[in-house]
Amino acid sequence: MFLCVLLLGLILKNEIQVESARILGIFPTPSKSHYALGNVLLKELARRGHEVTMISPFEEKHPPPNSSYRDIKLEFEISEADKSSNFFSSDMSNPYLVTLFLNYVGCKMLNATLNFPNVQKLLESEEKFDAVIMDQFVDDGFSYFAHRFGANNILVSTTTAKAWVNPLVGNPAPPSVVADLLLNFPNRMNFLERLQNTIFYLYSVLNIHLYFFPQQNKIIKENLPEARPLYDYLYNVSLVLINTHESYTDPSSMVPVMKNVGGYHVSPAKKLPEDLQKFMDDSKEGVVYFSMGSNLKSKDMPKEVIEAIIRVFAKLKIKILWKWEDDSLPGQPPNLKLSKWLPQQEILGKCLDIIIHE
Ligand SMILES: *[C@@H]1O[C@H](CO)[C@@H](O)[C@H](O)[C@H]1NC(C)=O
Ligand SMILES: *[C@@H]1O[C@H](CO)[C@@H](O)[C@H](O)[C@H]1NC(C)=O
Ligand SMILES: *[C@@H]1O[C@H](CO)[C@@H](O)[C@H](O)[C@H]1NC(C)=O
Repeated sequence: MFLCVLLLGLILKNEIQVESARILGIFPTPSKSHYALGNVLLKELARRGHEVTMISPFEEKHPPPNSSYRDIKLEFEISEADKSSNFFSSDMSNPYLVTLFLNYVGCKMLNATLNFPNVQKLLESEEKFDAVIMDQFVDDGFSYFAHRFGANNILVSTTTAKAWVNPLVGNPAPPSVVADLLLNFPNRMNFLERLQNTIFYLYSVLNIHLYFFPQQNKIIKENLPEARPLYDYLYNVSLVLINTHESYTDPSSMVPVMKNVGGYHVSPAKKLPEDLQKFMDDSKEGVVYFSMGSNLKSKDMPKEVIEAIIRVFAKLKIKILWKWEDDSLPGQPPNLKLSKWLPQQEILGKCLDIIIHE
């Protein structure tokens, strides 16, 4: 009898027990592609009953019904100079200069975020969080939030596990075998490439420890005088989610707190708009989809690169869909369809359909 009551009690207890966590997302990069990864993750957590708060420059207009999803919106003013910065310019192919540019962007973003009244209000509040999930992209100072709220710090690396992330969790990435993301070297580097990679590695380490981290620390101290030094909590990381998949990256070491999650933000493809559906159905040989994403614009590519690409495309029997951000493309061959925006997921979904069905 006693056992029955005990069992019943246990069953009832399990039935009504609700375990939800309070989760803070920080995705301050004013770039849709960074935001999308955090947004999908946090929306799903909210749908599963967790209380979610999201700090970002964007707003979720359709949070899951009856869920607890709150936005703290960063009203960034992106100056014309920053907006028109062209990643195809010669400066942007120089990894040493890109590093300096990322320093500048990362510090500007942290300082601006800490200066928003809605963010300050959150930091002054008595709110508690169990976990902070943050975009790990040249903005390490944001680790302060997890420390401030006594929460687990979960990093989302929107690129692969490279120089920015590895040291935070003690993941070995010797420059003799792991090429830096900014250098574009093959997995099997020759001697000269290994040498260049090692020099760049040393430069990155010096930059991070002598300039970037001290600068991030200074910005935090300026805004929050009572804060402890960055190094006290920077390495206190519970989990790293990496936006890649082992099927298309080079082999590299991964400590157990690192998990590859590439593709998790993809949802089943919806119907294509009619004109695209027809274009793809009519392309019996298949379709090439060409897009540089949202940050890089095809129209900003150097003229000779554009011309070379057109020359190659014109020779192909296959039709081509090109995300091209201008009204027209001089010398456009007939097998090319241009559009300023394309439903990428639906197009790739359709390609997958073709592959699976044939
Ligand atoms: C949301 O809550 C309302 C009122 O409690 C309820 O009528 C509705 O069915 C709920 N919707 C979902 C999707 O759970
Ligand atoms: C941070 O922003 C404030 C206010 O805009 C400004 O006064 C300060 O100089 C900035 N600090 C850094 C290190 O950029
Ligand atoms: C380190 O993270 C844990 C949660 O994983 C937290 O309880 C602790 O306060 C953090 N330590 C510091 C110094 O922030």
